[in-house]
Amino acid sequence: MKRVFSGVQPTGNIHLGNYLGALKQFVELQDDHECIYCIVDMHAITVPQNPKELKEHILDVAALYLAVGVDPKKSIVFVQSDVPGHAELNWILTCNSYTGELSRMTQFKSKSQNKESAPTGLFTYPVLMAADILLYDTDVVPVGNDQKQHIELCRDIATRINNTVKKTFVIPEGRFLKAGARIMALDDPTQKMSKSAANVHSRISLLDEPNKIKKSIMKATTDSEGVVRYDVENKPGISNLMTIYSVLGNMSMEEIEAKYEGKGYGDFKKDLVEITVNALAPIKERYEEIRHSDELIEILKDGAERANAISVKTMARVKKNFGLGL
Ligand code: TYM
Repeated sequence: MKRVFSGVQPTGNIHLGNYLGALKQFVELQDDHECIYCIVDMHAITVPQNPKELKEHILDVAALYLAVGVDPKKSIVFVQSDVPGHAELNWILTCNSYTGELSRMTQFKSKSQNKESAPTGLFTYPVLMAADILLYDTDVVPVGNDQKQHIELCRDIATRINNTVKKTFVIPEGRFLKAGARIMALDDPTQKMSKSAANVHSRISLLDEPNKIKKSIMKATTDSEGVVRYDVENKPGISNLMTIYSVLGNMSMEEIEAKYEGKGYGDFKKDLVEITVNALAPIKERYEEIRHSDELIEILKDGAERANAISVKTMARVKKNFGLGL
C-alpha cells in the first residue's frame, strides 16, 4: 500500500478551500492507502501565536479531521510536536537546502513583503514541511495548489541527498484535485480563500452558522452578465461558486449550466446556499460530539505513538547515512 502524508495548520477558520482542496482527499484516500494526517503546530508558530488559543486550535483541527470523515481506525492522526523526529530531520534537511531556493518560495515572499526582516522560521518553513513528508517515506501528499512549490522543493532536497549523500528518501508526489485545488475568496475571486483574510465573508468556515453561509454566498462577487457559465478567465467569481456547487452538489459544470439556463445568479446562489448548508451540517454535528471528548485526546495520543514508531526507523537510517551519532 502506498503511504500518504498531509497536514493542516491549527490556525482556526478551517474553510471550504481547506476542505475541498485537502481534507476531502484525506477521506477518499484512506481505504486503499496507509494514511498519516498531522496537525502541524510547529508550522503555526512561524508567526506569533497565543499559546492558549493554539492549544484549542490544535484540538479544533483534530476534531474537524474526524468530523469530515477521517477514520482513526484506518488513518494515523497526530500532532506534529508530539513526534520529535520532525524537528530532528528538519535540521538535517536545513543543512542541505539553500537560501537561494528558499528565497524563491512565493508563500515566503508574500508573507515577508514590505518587511525589512522576517522570522527565520517563516523562511525555513518549507524545509520543516519537507521533513514532515520525508520522515514517513511518503509516496503521496494530498494538498491544494498553493502547496505545489513546497512539494517541488521537498522533492529537490530529497533527490539532492539521495544523489550526494546516499539513497535515503522516498521521493513523494503531490496530489491535487481537478476541482477544488484552488478555491478563491468569495469577495475577490482573484485571491485564494484564506484563513487570515480580514473579511469573514471572503470565506465559508466549516463551522459557520447557516445564516452566515447565506450572507457570504449572497454577497459573493460575480459579474454583470448574469449568465451561469463556467469561464474562469472572464467570469472568475461565478466560476468559483460553480466549482463549490459542482463538488458539494455532485454535478458537472454542464449540468449546472443547463439547470440555470435563462435564470439569474439569484436562483443559483439560493440553491448553492442550501447545498452548502446541507453539506456542512453533518460535519458540524459530528464536530460538536467529538470536540470536547476524551476520545479525541486518546486518538491523538495513540496516533503520536504510531507515527513515532515509523519516524524512529527513518531517523535511524538518516543518521546512519549521514554518519551522525554513535
Ligand atoms: P494550510 O494549513 O494553509 O492549508 C491546509 C490545506 O488546505 C489547502 N488549501 C486550499 N485548497 C484549496 N483552495 C484554497 N483556497 C486553499 N487554502 C488552503 C492547502 O493547500 C493545504 O493542503 N504548509 C501546509 C501544511 C503542511 C503540510 C505539511 C501539508 C505542513 N507540513 C506536509 C502537507 C504535507 C499549510 O500551510 O497548509
